[in-house]
Amino acid sequence: MSFGKAVKIGMLGMGTVGGGVAQIIERNGELLAGKTDINLTLQRVLVRDPSRRRAVDLPPQTYTTDPDVVIRDPAISVVVELMGGIEPARTLISAALKENKDVVTANKDLMAQHGRELLQLARRCGRNIYYEASAGGGIPLVRPLKHCLVANRIKCIIGIINGTTNYILTRMSCDDMDFQEALARAQKLGFAEADPSSDIEGRDAAYKLAILAGIAFNCPVDPGELSIEGIKNVTRADIHYARELGYTIKLLAIGEEKPGGLVLRVHPALVSLAHPLASVHDEFNALFIEGDLIGEAMFYGRGAGALPTASAVVADIIDAVRSYERADKGLYANNLGKTKLLPVSVLNSRFYVRFLAQDRPGVFGALATVFGDEGVSLDMIIQKRKKNGIAEIVLVTHDVSEELFTRPLEKALRLPSIQPDAGVFRVLA
Ligand code: NAP
Ligand code: HSE
Repeated sequence: MSFGKAVKIGMLGMGTVGGGVAQIIERNGELLAGKTDINLTLQRVLVRDPSRRRAVDLPPQTYTTDPDVVIRDPAISVVVELMGGIEPARTLISAALKENKDVVTANKDLMAQHGRELLQLARRCGRNIYYEASAGGGIPLVRPLKHCLVANRIKCIIGIINGTTNYILTRMSCDDMDFQEALARAQKLGFAEADPSSDIEGRDAAYKLAILAGIAFNCPVDPGELSIEGIKNVTRADIHYARELGYTIKLLAIGEEKPGGLVLRVHPALVSLAHPLASVHDEFNALFIEGDLIGEAMFYGRGAGALPTASAVVADIIDAVRSYERADKGLYANNLGKTKLLPVSVLNSRFYVRFLAQDRPGVFGALATVFGDEGVSLDMIIQKRKKNGIAEIVLVTHDVSEELFTRPLEKALRLPSIQPDAGVFRVLA
């Protein structure tokens, strides 16, 4: 039985997320129609290989390798882009807007790098682009920041917004798994990008931060200007020491308003076990927001995977259909302000450093002296004996400017008894 207004959808791509959309329409189509009076059908789907087995069996004639068949179909009112990457997605979204279709996308690479230009094109075409799934997967973040929290001046956003790296760090921390095994599992579970270096090196989180910060701070953000560090340098030793000191290590994406501009950065950091972000495990994501009116708020849920991400995509499709009926096209225009991005070096932080040192008299004291002489105060110190006359010395500083911290760190790494490859991470205040 079908009821509700029939709406035909064109989809560009039916992999992990597109398969999730098809599953939701099959499984919850009637529920959705009952709630919204909208009955969704996948009319045409662009893929590379129509013979491939999909999550849902659609009639074979649904599939095409010709994007024009999707974009130019007059029966289709919403085009859903789930191919990923910049091209041909950017050209096809532009073409769909010019064909008078609304667009839904989960493509953070594209929205972070070309979102402004595409939103402006949408506006000129009298259409909209919906991109809730591009940051935070199934967790509502784009809509709450645009609408529910619009009255707030946002002071900071701190996110765990990459499921793959959070899954890897969780497995390394809870199961003592090594990095490669944890990555392979994340790939098998469908969290990782086609090229997982984007997850591991922090670019995926940076794209999402660029999207969210653009909305939160109402300014255009070029992801190329962000300070980005991935999780490659996080070792199991660092994870163990962090725990001993009362912390866990997370890949954080942080946007903060500072006098004179914004600081936007992605890097691993020690997070106190008492902080709400410390209990965000596996592929789960969370965004911690501080607004001048609401105070602190946190959004938590699954940031990756077929059904959670497709849940946000389907909600956007419904929003597109409803907004079209209400003709409120201006709703999603944003990024109009101008804000200066400041370098990370303007920040004060606490730092964790793990040195490998010769286990002989005076080394511990020499390290403490180097930091003390430069006016950097140490909060915690641990020394442990390793094999072959090598000791591990872990320091946590008090709050210090990045610039001031760098001087004693460089001096310490030049000490003859200290090995040059230290583990250095910021500690979330
Ligand atoms: P995916 O599994 O790799 O699926 C991509 C789909 O696009 C496939 O069906 C592929 O066709 C099709 N495709 C790609 N290039 C094409 C081309 N040139 N011509 C025709 N078809 C093409 O990707 P995904 O994981 O679903 O991700 C889709 C988007 O969602 C990406 O932007 C991703 O960043 C974003 N996203 C993903 C997740 C997640 O958990 N996976 C979460 C949030 C956001 P074939 O199947 O025939 O190869
Ligand atoms: N690769 C991404 C992640 C998918 O792991 O978070 C969701 O955007």
